Formats: sequence, structure tokens, C-alpha cells
Amino acid sequence: MKDTCLHAFHRHWIYEVVITAGNVDRVAVGPFGMWTDDGMTLKGSFFKGSSTLQAIEAHRCFVVNPVDDPVVLHAALNRRDSLEFEFLSSGDAAGCPVLAGIPSWLAMRVTHLDDTGDMVLLDAEVVGHGAIHSAPLVNRAKGLFLESLVLSTRCALIGQAAVEQLRENVRVIAKVAPGSRYEKAVRELLALVTESR
Ligand SMILES: Cc1cc2nc3c(=O)[nH]c(=O)nc-3n(C[C@H](O)[C@H](O)[C@H](O)COP(=O)(O)O)c2cc1C
Repeated sequence: MKDTCLHAFHRHWIYEVVITAGNVDRVAVGPFGMWTDDGMTLKGSFFKGSSTLQAIEAHRCFVVNPVDDPVVLHAALNRRDSLEFEFLSSGDAAGCPVLAGIPSWLAMRVTHLDDTGDMVLLDAEVVGHGAIHSAPLVNRAKGLFLESLVLSTRCALIGQAAVEQLRENVRVIAKVAPGSRYEKAVRELLALVTESR
């Protein structure tokens, strides 16, 4: 099978990454969720009006910068001036920005854009990659499960609002890590909490 560098991506799980697009004159950067359905290509769903989406549409290429620290996602959203960039010098995505110092990156070429109403669903193939070392991917399920575990001990004290929050956490975990042990465990938590009420 072709090596697409996506072996660390569980199929259908959503990973929070920094996307960089544009060129040296105008860099677009932001945190976005990306996933693979087939282990070969990446998908993303972008709100229309996103300037990162506009840069991707204009250049047809962009870079996925996996991060293992959510504070970098915060910087990509709210502290963009603090970020530094390098620019790819060769390949299909030549000229695309990459986060400076990032442990690994994937250069992507858009293969399909689908207007789904408020959002644009994007498909892209890997056209290049680089790695100093691989970075663990950020997925929301693990942290949210930990928060759910703590919350489950407080449902008796807080009451229905805590149960509703737990339900919401089940929804999010099932969306970002379908079929995971986090989904199974958080459903168990919800059942335990609702049984005891
Ligand atoms: C962790 C995280 C993940 C996000 N994922 C998405 C996403 O998948 N799609 C999207 O449209 N916006 C997503 N957002 C919101 C965008 O990053 C946000 O709207 C940003 O302001 C877009 O910037 P832009 O208009 O410069 O592209 C996410 C935000 C965070 C913090």
C-alpha cells in the first residue's frame, strides 16, 4: 500500500491541527479539525468565510501542522503575531508556509471541494511531508473523557446540569473518536450516573 504518512491517524477520528496556507506575501493560519476516512486522504470541514479556506481555495495547496500542545492551537487562533513560518522550497506545495520548528508537517493538495451549505467539505491528498520526529496528534476525546470522569463524581452535588454536560461530552467524544475506548467508557459513565439518579 502507498505510504501516505497517515498511519498515526485513526480512521474517522478528528485531529486538531494547525493549517497554514497562502504564501510569503500573505500567510493564512488557523486551528482546524482534520480526519481520514480511507487512510489515504484527509478531509476537513470549513466554515464559509474562513480566510484560511479562501487561501486554500486560491492556492489549491496547504500544509497540515500536527501539534501535541493545545496552546499552539490557541496561538494559531488568537496570537498569530507570535508565530513564525518557513516556506516550502520544492514540490507541489512549493511556497506554502509551514510553522517554524514544527516536528512534522504534511503538504496537501486539494482534490475536491464540496459546498454543504454553511460549510465547505474539503478532500486533499498528501503531496509532501517532512519530519524531525513524529508529534502525537491532538484529539479531544482523551481530555474530555478525563473531564467527564471528574464530572461524574459531581453529578449528585451539581444535579441535572452536570448530567446534561456529561451527555454533551458523550456526543462530542462519539463525534471526534467514534468507536474508541473513550466513547465506550464515557457511555458507561453516563449510564452509571443516570441509573443512580
Ligand atoms: C481546536 C479548534 C478546532 C477548530 N476546527 C475548525 C474546523 O474544523 N472548521 C472550521 O471551520 N473552524 C474550526 N475552528 C474555528 C476556526 O479556527 C476559527 O473560526 C478561525 O477564526 C478561522 O480563522 P480564519 O477565518 O482566519 O480562517 C476551530 C477552532 C479551534 C480552536
